[in-house]
Amino acid sequence: MKVPVLDLKAEYAELRDEILPALDRVCQNSSFVLGEEVEAFEREFADFCGTKHCVALSTGTAALHLGLLALGVQADDEVITSPNTFLATAEAITYCGAVPVFVDIDPATANLDPDLIERAITPRTRVILPIHLYGRPAEMDAIREIGARHNIRILEDAAQAHGARYRGRRVGGLGHAAAFSFYPTKNLGAYGEGGALTTDDDQIARFVRAARNHGQTARYEHEFVGYNYRMQGFQGAVLRIKLRRLYAWTSRRQEIAREYRRVLAGARLEIPVDDPRDECVYHQFVIYVGNRNSMVAQLAAREIETVIHYPKPVHLQPAYSSLGFPPGTFPRAERACDRVLSLPVHPRLTAKQVAYVANSVREAAGEKQAAAG
Ligand SMILES: Cc1ncc(COP(=O)(O)O)c(C=O)c1O
Repeated sequence: MKVPVLDLKAEYAELRDEILPALDRVCQNSSFVLGEEVEAFEREFADFCGTKHCVALSTGTAALHLGLLALGVQADDEVITSPNTFLATAEAITYCGAVPVFVDIDPATANLDPDLIERAITPRTRVILPIHLYGRPAEMDAIREIGARHNIRILEDAAQAHGARYRGRRVGGLGHAAAFSFYPTKNLGAYGEGGALTTDDDQIARFVRAARNHGQTARYEHEFVGYNYRMQGFQGAVLRIKLRRLYAWTSRRQEIAREYRRVLAGARLEIPVDDPRDECVYHQFVIYVGNRNSMVAQLAAREIETVIHYPKPVHLQPAYSSLGFPPGTFPRAERACDRVLSLPVHPRLTAKQVAYVANSVREAAGEKQAAAG
């Protein structure tokens, strides 16, 4: 049985009757860049996140970049983040001329370990940038408490976590600002590139609104040198339609995750831990296995697609070799990257496909050895 990690064609078939008239509306109004669909999406996504503001942008990377600038990051500042992430998190820091300072992860959650943050703080630390990796909220109370104590601001990388809750509160409003990505594979994906910054802070929102549009505060009134980071009208129209489905799609992801956990209990593999007070939105359902190559091959032989998020931590990427971190510097992140494997978890999987994946993984992993003695 074929099980893809994603099925955007099936999703389009479901949504086509709503999408096409919405795109037609954008064309009729010629509102190709920003415009009324984007403005409506900004209001709806801010409501969804429970934040005062949402500023729609061209990509999640742009949201991280402008978020860092809005929080005052300048050349030679330091930004604390996790090396267990997509490269864009670190790139945004580099765009500001600042330096990413990596802190290792908590192996139980794959997120930044708050117990290791304080020793990485220096007088140059400007921002802490936790990632809600795979849709699982980072330890925000501890991170916020450290930030408050040292007068350091917090930017959430919520690119993978639309709708996730931490202690009952949606991500996006847990720090000073948050960056979202709407890349097509995300839980809420555009039909092209897209991103947004959410915040409760009027000044941050005002800065990001101008910065995305060449620093303009009024037409041809450029207060500072900005960027072209505007969202396209088509993306606003598509995202509004998909946002209305996000609750149902997320529930289905969570249901699949519960079923995987049930079947895989006792198998020779590890699964990140969910805090019962929080709500993970399962952008990815990952397992950790010692025999990853053989697991991938066995699943591929059964037509089950898998992906590795991510095979190499950021500090070991050639792009960041100038930082000079040898292997072994962040051992938990490195171990995670050596063992991690993402199983299909998209909302259109059937019960049969879910059972097939779970049983195939269980068989390939084998049983956990009973404790000796
Ligand atoms: C954790 C994380 N941060 C940032 C990004 C960058 O988002 P985008 O691809 O929209 O620029 C992504 C996704 O690609 C991501 O997964």
